[in-house]
Order: sequence, then C-alpha cells, then structure tokens
Amino acid sequence: MAAADISLQNEAVLNAALTGLTARGQKSLPPWLFYDEAGSLLFEQITALPEYYLTRTEREVFVTHADEIVTALGADVTLAELGAGSAAKTGVLLRAATKFQDEVLYQPIDISPSALDEAAASIAERIPGVKVEPQVANYITERYDIARPKGQKVLALYIGSSIGNFSPSEAVQILSNLRQHLQVGDALLLGTDLSPSVEKSVDTLLAAYDDAAGVTAAFNLNVLARLNCELGADFDVAAFAHRARWNQGCSRIEMHLESLIAQTVHIAGETISFAAGETIHTENSHKFTEASLQQLLGSADFSASRTFLSPTKSFAVTLAVAV
Ligand code: AVJ
Repeated sequence: MAAADISLQNEAVLNAALTGLTARGQKSLPPWLFYDEAGSLLFEQITALPEYYLTRTEREVFVTHADEIVTALGADVTLAELGAGSAAKTGVLLRAATKFQDEVLYQPIDISPSALDEAAASIAERIPGVKVEPQVANYITERYDIARPKGQKVLALYIGSSIGNFSPSEAVQILSNLRQHLQVGDALLLGTDLSPSVEKSVDTLLAAYDDAAGVTAAFNLNVLARLNCELGADFDVAAFAHRARWNQGCSRIEMHLESLIAQTVHIAGETISFAAGETIHTENSHKFTEASLQQLLGSADFSASRTFLSPTKSFAVTLAVAV
C-alpha cells in the first residue's frame, strides 16, 4: 500500500474519532471502525458463536430456499452483492444458480480489497460456472457499477442484516441508490434480523450481542485499541466495559463502551473527558418487523414479493422486486 493511502485511511479514522468523541452530548464512534484486521477476525468468530444466531439462521434460509430464490425472476440472473465481505453465505445461492444456467456472473462490491480477493478466489475455486468480477467501493459514499449480461436480470444481494447498522433514513438512501442501478423486474434479496416477538425474547437478542465467551466485548473494545494503535491515542482499554442495550422505541440493539471511572483520554492533541458511567455509542443494529420492512422497501421503490422466514421466525430473507 502506498504511503498516500495509509495517511488517507488514517485521516478518515482521525476525523471519525474526533467528530464522534468531541460531540456535545452522547459520544459515539461509527461501526465501520470495528473492521480493522483484528476486528474482522473477531467478527468472523462472532458469526460462529452459539448466541449469535443471525449468520447461521440466514444460511439455513438460503439452503432451504436457494432454488426458489435464484429462479424467481424467471430468467438467467447475475448476482451483485453490496458489502460482500468474505461472501461465505453467498456460495449457497451461486451454487444453486449454476444448476439453472451455464455461467453465473457474480459481482461482489466491498470496501475491503483483501476480503474481496479472498471471496473471489474461494468462490471461483469452489464453484465452477461462476465468473467473479469484484469491485472495490464503499457503496455508501462512492459510486459503483452493476453489469448486466445480455438477456439477464439482476439479483442484488444485501444480506447479513448489514442494513441494520443504518438509521431508517440512511437505509432508504442506500436502497434507493441501489434501485437506480436496477430495472423494473430485477430484484433485491434483503436479509434482516427481526424484532422481539412471541418467538424471540429480548434476552435472546441481548445475548447475541453480549455472549458468554466475551467475543463481542472484545470486538467492541477493539475499536479503542485501534485508535491507540493508529492515532497514538491513550485509551486505557481496561477502564471501559462492553454494554449491549435494547432500545425499544427505535427497535434496535445498541452497543456502547462505558467508562468505568472518571478519566481523560488524549487523541491527536485533543483531550477528551469521561464521567464515570458515561458511554461511547459504537453501534446500532436495527431489528425489523414485516410492516417496517414493507415500509422501507416501498420507500425505495421495491415491492416485497416473497418473505422467507427462518423456522423460528427470528430472521427474514425478503425477495423484493424493483417496481
Ligand atoms: C454485521 C452489522 C450485521 O449488527 O449484528 C455483531 C455486527 N455487532 N455483533 C450486527 C455485530 C455485534 C452485525 N452486522
């Protein structure tokens, strides 16, 4: 990586940290800061935790309904994926698609070149008949392209409940932007975690974000270690604790880092004071209902055509057509 890239990356981290930590009122850090190398590894571990049902539940829905999903558009399809990451679950859908057409073009879009390289290599190796065209882009802030082989429809994937990190208005923005890349009759496959219900208690939800082994705590606290390492900040990581809360009014899990004592921290010449018990809000993870999903999709000119619920109704995979 060139020196210019390193300083640009550092500058984005510095801006985000100072903006969020010098705010009057609630301090915050954006969730994209979680995903440095250590954080990405910790997230991979989270997806395998007994309490973190999301990843395995979504995969089960894909395994059960893959054929139906990839043939629903009634034509050959190309799959484009926002925030593809390691594309671990996407293989299930791609493999299904290769049963119905000779070649499947897979277009993963992700901010991380290393994740994309790995995803591209593993998919190409494991699933013959798939051609991978990766694209490095931040799908929130940068433009991206979706190619359409002749006569094919686009099945856009936005899975893993990634959309849960965003506020309702940001979520509409992301889907509206995606919609502009699509034509009527193309589709979006959206994976979302669901709100508490008869089938799913708030405790189940909280445990998914506060596991017994402490992996999620390590994932959350890692953001402070990252600021120490990359910005020369002096957070005493042991003086902060991981907290997960359910915010009923906003239907979201919030992750915070609570300062266990009154303390000051220095970052790039700025002094930041914490009262004992004060928190840094590090993540929102919105949870949806069928009604809130309909509303979100409708606002972005999609219409839900099929919703595949997991057997315990804890996770939804919605196939929505562009209208
Ligand atoms: C990757 C945003 C879907 O919100 O469940 C996991 C991130 N945070 N445990 C989520 C996360 C804490 C995850 N998403």
